[in-house]
Amino acid sequence: VTEPDLVGRHVVVSAGGTREPLDPVRFLGNRSSGKQGYALARTAAARGARVTLIAANSTLPAPAGVDVVPVGTAVQLREAVLRAAPEADAVVMAAAVADFRPAAYAAGKIKKKDGQEPEPVTLVRNPDILAEISADRARPGQVVVGFAAETDDVLANGRAKLKRKGCDLLVVNEVGELKTFGSEENEAVVLGADGSETAVAHGPKEALAETVWDLVAERLN
Ligand code: C5P
Repeated sequence: VTEPDLVGRHVVVSAGGTREPLDPVRFLGNRSSGKQGYALARTAAARGARVTLIAANSTLPAPAGVDVVPVGTAVQLREAVLRAAPEADAVVMAAAVADFRPAAYAAGKIKKKDGQEPEPVTLVRNPDILAEISADRARPGQVVVGFAAETDDVLANGRAKLKRKGCDLLVVNEVGELKTFGSEENEAVVLGADGSETAVAHGPKEALAETVWDLVAERLN
């Protein structure tokens, strides 16, 4: 039985993966499916929250009763998050946001030229949305949650990242090519800025989502 412990709360969830265009047909992207973010949106709605789901390049069906804002790039995702955050009791950044984007966008399709080596792609940094919203809380008491995909020294890197980003909770999972991305299941440790550590056993992405909302609800009450 789901507790309606988020009734009267507004939560913002980002999901999916950003795509950073090189030209009208090509982009730099990542393997995020959006499934974890959608599971977070569905479970928050089931617990009574008003949910804004900022979805980066996801083709998943919109969960019932959830307000979906589609975005493409990290810069668009930032704008959507900053627009929604002032009314949010909690912001959960489950989206895989590209750290870098191509410095230049070619308005026409980039062509290969006979006998010529390709131009190198220069990248510039994207804004770190999680760090920004954590530093400038749009509301007092707002709970900010980040995700971190790590391949090694998962907990140590997670703790350092939690500090660096300044969020309240960081969901850390170990990734490999076949783990987590696109999968129906996940396994994680949720680190709290208060020093707490909550392990979530391998299972459906809904189960991890429920644990995240338990921890958020604890901090809101
Ligand atoms: O630094 P890293 O990409 O590992 O951090 C992951 C977390 O930070 C995720 O919650 C992601 O949504 C968020 N992020 C962000 N803006 C970026 C990069 C990551 O908000 N430019």
